[in-house]
Amino acid sequence: LFVPVNYYVHIHSDSNDNDIPLEMMNEVEMENKRMLKKQRKRKANWSDDVLVSSFPKSGTTWVVEIVDEILRRGIEPDNESPTYLRAKMLELGPPAISKSVIDENNDENLMKGEKRVFKTHLAYTSLPSDIRSGQSNIRLIYIVRNVKDNLVSFYHFCRMNELYGLFKGSFSDFYDLWLNGQTPHGDWFEHVKGYLENSVNNENILIISYEELLESTFEMIGKISTFLNINLEDKVVKSIVEKTNIENMRQNKRTNRLEVKAYRQDISQFFRKGIAGDWKNWLNEEQSQRIDRLFEEKLPTDIRILLNKL
Ligand code: A3P
Repeated sequence: LFVPVNYYVHIHSDSNDNDIPLEMMNEVEMENKRMLKKQRKRKANWSDDVLVSSFPKSGTTWVVEIVDEILRRGIEPDNESPTYLRAKMLELGPPAISKSVIDENNDENLMKGEKRVFKTHLAYTSLPSDIRSGQSNIRLIYIVRNVKDNLVSFYHFCRMNELYGLFKGSFSDFYDLWLNGQTPHGDWFEHVKGYLENSVNNENILIISYEELLESTFEMIGKISTFLNINLEDKVVKSIVEKTNIENMRQNKRTNRLEVKAYRQDISQFFRKGIAGDWKNWLNEEQSQRIDRLFEEKLPTDIRILLNKL
C-alpha cells in the first residue's frame, strides 16, 4: 500500500556522506549535497548543534522554524532559502550550514561556532551512536503530540505525499494499518517510548508537547531558548511567536513547502488545521477506546506519567 522511498532504503545515520545515487537525487538532495561539501570544510563535528526529532506530523516543521528563529535571534535570514534546505533531515545525511546575519560579536555561543539545526523522524535506537552514548553534546528536542491527532494528521499527510504513494484508502483503512504498525515509520508507541525513556536524567534531551506549544507558545519558546543556552529578550520571543504562527508559516515561502512537488497541496494542505482535538472529527468511539487501551498496554506507567505532565 505504501511505496518505499529512497530515504527509507538509505538510512545510514552514522554515515558521513549522502550516498543516494545521483540519478535518484531530486533538486533538494543535490542542493543538500553541494551545501554539505561546503559545510564539511567549515565544521567537522556537530557537538554544538540542535536536532529536532519526532514521529511525523507532531509539529516538527513548527519547532524547526522556532529553533531556526532562536538561532538567528529573530533576525531575518540573509536569503530566501527554504528552512528545510538548511535544517536538513538526518536520514538524508548531515545538514547544510545556516548562513545567518547574526552579529557574532554579541554572542558568546557563536564564538564556539554557529549552531545548526537539523531534524529526524528516526527511532531513538537508530540515532547516531555518539548521540545515544552521550559523547556528543548535541541538544535534542523531541516533540510528542496527542496520539489520536497525530494519527489523523498522518492520514492526511499520506493522502497528499507522493513519497508515500498518495494513500487512497479511507480513514478506517489507514487506522487499521497504523494500528498494526504498517504505515511509514511504524509503531507510534515504540517511537515515543524510545525517546521518553532516554530523556530521563539526560540534560541534552528536551521533551515538549505540541499541545503545550499551542497553549503557551511564548513560554515554550523561552523554554527552548533556555535549553539552547540562548538568552532572548521578550520582544524577540514575541516576534518569534508571531512569525511562526500557522498562518504566517503558510504564507511564508521559506516555510510553506509550495515548491515541494511531492506534496500535493491540492489534496491536503501541508499546514492543514494546526489545532488540538481534531481527532474527534475522525475517530469513532470504538477506534478511540482501542487507542486508549493500547496506551495503557504499550507504555509503561512512568512514561505515561511523563506524558501526562507535558
Ligand atoms: P494538522 O495536520 O493536524 O493540521 P509536522 O511538521 O511534524 O509534519 O507536523 C504537521 C502538523 O503540525 C500539522 O497538523 C500542521 O498543521 C501542524 N503545524 C505546522 N505548523 C504549525 C504552526 N505554526 N502552528 C500550529 N500547528 C502547526
